[in-house]
Amino acid sequence: MMVLDTPKESQGLDSRPELLSETDTVPDTGIVLESSSNVIDEFPIEIRSPQLSFHRFFNEPLPKLTLLPGDGHMALTYIGHYGPHLISTGLDFLAEQVSGDFKSGFMAFLNHVKEHHMSPEQTSCKLAIRIYRVPDPTKPLRWHQDGFFWLPNGYAYQLGTVLLGPPTLFQQPTQETQRIYHEVTKDELDSVPHVRQALTDQFRDFKPVSAKPGELSRWTNGHDTGVVHSEPFPIVEPRIFVSLLPGTEAQLRNLCELWDMSFKVDETLEE
Ligand SMILES: [Fe+2]
Repeated sequence: MMVLDTPKESQGLDSRPELLSETDTVPDTGIVLESSSNVIDEFPIEIRSPQLSFHRFFNEPLPKLTLLPGDGHMALTYIGHYGPHLISTGLDFLAEQVSGDFKSGFMAFLNHVKEHHMSPEQTSCKLAIRIYRVPDPTKPLRWHQDGFFWLPNGYAYQLGTVLLGPPTLFQQPTQETQRIYHEVTKDELDSVPHVRQALTDQFRDFKPVSAKPGELSRWTNGHDTGVVHSEPFPIVEPRIFVSLLPGTEAQLRNLCELWDMSFKVDETLEE
């Protein structure tokens, strides 16, 4: 039986290069480590390569949170305007699931994303909150790319962080990791169990990188530009994962049609 290496804080999860000056790019990887300055221009519209960067949004240690008793995992997906309705929806959801000062970290994440990662045209978003209440040490690695969401005008990127628990694992977006991913998934989806196992095997000796506590990750989506990533493994503690996909109202309305969801209109933003 094959035994997977266990990512630990002192190993894979904290293994990225120490490059935290104003803007440093890890050679040949596309990884940018950035503290907080406005970085919208660093992801040009005509992007043709996967890009990954980490950004600090919270300077203090994140407030200690615990999950309220409940059943299984919980998920919120909101698609609509970025505004007060988004904020209250997220806070209400967290209040039902979480004990402690969740508001500070959640609001710092949203404010940082709005200020540094959304252009004026990007008035809308998809917000996802995933609560992993029950530790699941048997959950396998799930190396995958996120979908492109919209074509042909514009590319998609997401921002994500954890308010509790271990961070998302990212493969460094090198030509080699992209080649491996595309080779293994050329005939079947990455969700097929034996393909998932093949990806786990192929990436076994690679060191994933992750955001540190109080940092968010920014990664590009899509087949040619998607950064390969996975939930941490094994998950042995509760986890709160928050992600946001910025876009124009038209882009998010199209996504709603595709997924048969309703676009949440923020009436406080209406003229
Ligand atoms: Fe993903």
